[in-house]
Amino acid sequence: MRRLIIAGNWKMNKSVTESMELARKLKMKLLGEADLIIIVCPPFVSLQPLAELLKGGNIHLGAQNMYWEEQGAFTGEISPKMLLSIGVEYVILGHSERRKYFGETDETVNKKIKKALELGLKPIVCIGETLEQREEGKTLEVLERQLTEGLKEVEIDDPFNIVIAYEPIWAIGTGRNATPEQAQEAHHFIRELLGKIYGAEKAEGLTLQYGGSVKPDNARDLLIQEDVDGALVGGASLDTFNFSSIIESGKEVFQKKPCYHY
Ligand code: PGA
Repeated sequence: MRRLIIAGNWKMNKSVTESMELARKLKMKLLGEADLIIIVCPPFVSLQPLAELLKGGNIHLGAQNMYWEEQGAFTGEISPKMLLSIGVEYVILGHSERRKYFGETDETVNKKIKKALELGLKPIVCIGETLEQREEGKTLEVLERQLTEGLKEVEIDDPFNIVIAYEPIWAIGTGRNATPEQAQEAHHFIRELLGKIYGAEKAEGLTLQYGGSVKPDNARDLLIQEDVDGALVGGASLDTFNFSSIIESGKEVFQKKPCYHY
């Protein structure tokens, strides 16, 4: 059995006050949604107020990054223990913006994944190719490298503890989403590769999210794909109507795909 997960990556948007306003609206609107897992990932400063605000609802909380040490002289960094202590459950790791602007590599992503899992934070691991790599026919090669390096010596005891997000870089924030066929091809490849590493049963249980210009009008067609188990939503997650419309598509798809029911 797999889980369908819709997560909102707010990136560096929304003040604490604005974050609370958006979270309050989402909490009210999404109360009672039982089938899917819904996550919001606000900036660090909003995590604690949102942890309080979201109590009693069904929206889970994620951070956008963390460091791989638990504490110490690492100015400016946030430790996984700090996140756990305020009720954060998920953490986005290896987002392409972190790789591009902040020098993250498969190696640093690997360290972070290991530490997150060790302490009980659930990583949402982002992988994806650039437009140039896609045009050169290197997409699957890039995904394979990012996955095998990122997950090097990573044990997965329970597939519910980790999420893989396929996010083609050319689709992020561009309004140009991958076609459902392109998403399915990449997701199928990822699941097969994970099957080789962890065995087919575990791979079947892993949630593979798609990310990159997911909007209310394309969410259903992407989510209905056999190996697409959710979405990591950037821009559209900043608006209550758009985010909840995407969740509606998720609900519809949940009813139609047998992999979520056993
Ligand atoms: P986008 O961002 O939905 O704005 O394209 C997705 C992401 O970066 O996770």
